Amino acid sequence: MDTLEKYRKYVNTACVKAVEPIVVARARGARITDTSGRTYTDLFAGISVVNAGHCNPEVLAAAKNQMDHLVHANAYTYHIPVVADLAEKLAQITPGRLQKSFFGSGGAEANEGGMRLAKQFTGRQEFIALQGSFHGRSVGTLSLTGNCGRKRRGGPYLPGCTFHPAPYCYRCPYAMAYPGCDLHCAKDLERTIQFDTADDVAAFVAEGAMGEGGIIIPPPGYFKAVKEVLDQHGILLFIDEVQSGFGRTGKLFAIEHHPVEPDILTMAKGIADGFPLSAVIAREEIADSFRPGDHLSTFGGNPVSCAAALANIAFYERERLCEQSAKKGETLLVALKELQRTQPLIGEVRGLGLMVGVELVLDRQTKAPAPEAAAKVRALMREKGFLVGLGGTYGNVLRIQPPLVIDPADLQQAVAALAECLRAV
Ligand SMILES: Cc1ncc(COP(=O)(O)O)c(C=O)c1O
Repeated sequence: MDTLEKYRKYVNTACVKAVEPIVVARARGARITDTSGRTYTDLFAGISVVNAGHCNPEVLAAAKNQMDHLVHANAYTYHIPVVADLAEKLAQITPGRLQKSFFGSGGAEANEGGMRLAKQFTGRQEFIALQGSFHGRSVGTLSLTGNCGRKRRGGPYLPGCTFHPAPYCYRCPYAMAYPGCDLHCAKDLERTIQFDTADDVAAFVAEGAMGEGGIIIPPPGYFKAVKEVLDQHGILLFIDEVQSGFGRTGKLFAIEHHPVEPDILTMAKGIADGFPLSAVIAREEIADSFRPGDHLSTFGGNPVSCAAALANIAFYERERLCEQSAKKGETLLVALKELQRTQPLIGEVRGLGLMVGVELVLDRQTKAPAPEAAAKVRALMREKGFLVGLGGTYGNVLRIQPPLVIDPADLQQAVAALAECLRAV
């Protein structure tokens, strides 16, 4: 039985529309090679994970070295040097006074930890999240996910979760336009608190830049205006950087594009270049609000993953990966916007750093989403040897989130291929 057959018979893939018809043999940098020897340019990085490149030799060497010493003991039963070293490093590289990390294995787990911390610290029980957001697949994080497409048949969800319109300027829920709107969607949070909550809100939870929702980048001034409202009500700012973190937007964390200090920040995906690890980091007094018994994770802070994360971060710093992301992303956006001029299917090109979305529409006036065209373009791109992602509330956004180490020439070729694919659908 080959891999495809075994997948059909033994792997539960009923939860996804389709698994890409590629059997991956190996990967390096921004290239994925299948079992037939065909090589693809990876523009999706394993859902925005291998930012320092597939099988980064420095990350692998650190992980292998750690494996010779200790694979698991549990970070909350014993003191483990590499866990302490990574926690110290995260306190140094995260914004503001974020200081103490709790380690888990994945993004949803980190967000669950953040929710729990926000409740413990404030003594409050409600949350406000954004429409179109995605925060994970556990019941708690799905409760904060603003997209019924992810939630159908999974309820009941947590009470006390309220959804506020997202800063999705292309489809502004208020039919306004930035900057003339004067950040109305941020300021209108006041009304959501007043009319949609019981004034018992622990935290406002938002992605630093929205990934699954279709690469939505909050405009300049957004989080500052949000924070002003939150401060009036003593509500914590909880930023989910699971997808937007680790250089994806051209800064280590997307929230650093804004002059605000988050109270709680979560990270996963890009933290260890493919090794499973996540962290929720908070100010000391918030972190210390856990009491014995409140929280734990068996695999959280796995020493091999932590060693990989430390090597990954060292690689970021030496190779100036954030600057690389910013620069390559800028060039990519210019090329895609140029393409938009001749391709009526492209409704909007948007992004920051190498977190880029191309939203396809049937009609630029009505902005009717074009998910079928997006799926076709993705398949045609694959045939041409380029792997892109898909996303957005309507499934009509091509996502370009490659390893940050990608060669700029590969991005240029990808845009040329995209032009041909768009013409062909
Ligand atoms: C913003 C955000 N938060 C949380 C998650 C969940 O992460 P995980 O799949 O590692 O649980 C994701 C995954 O895509 C995400 O994009």
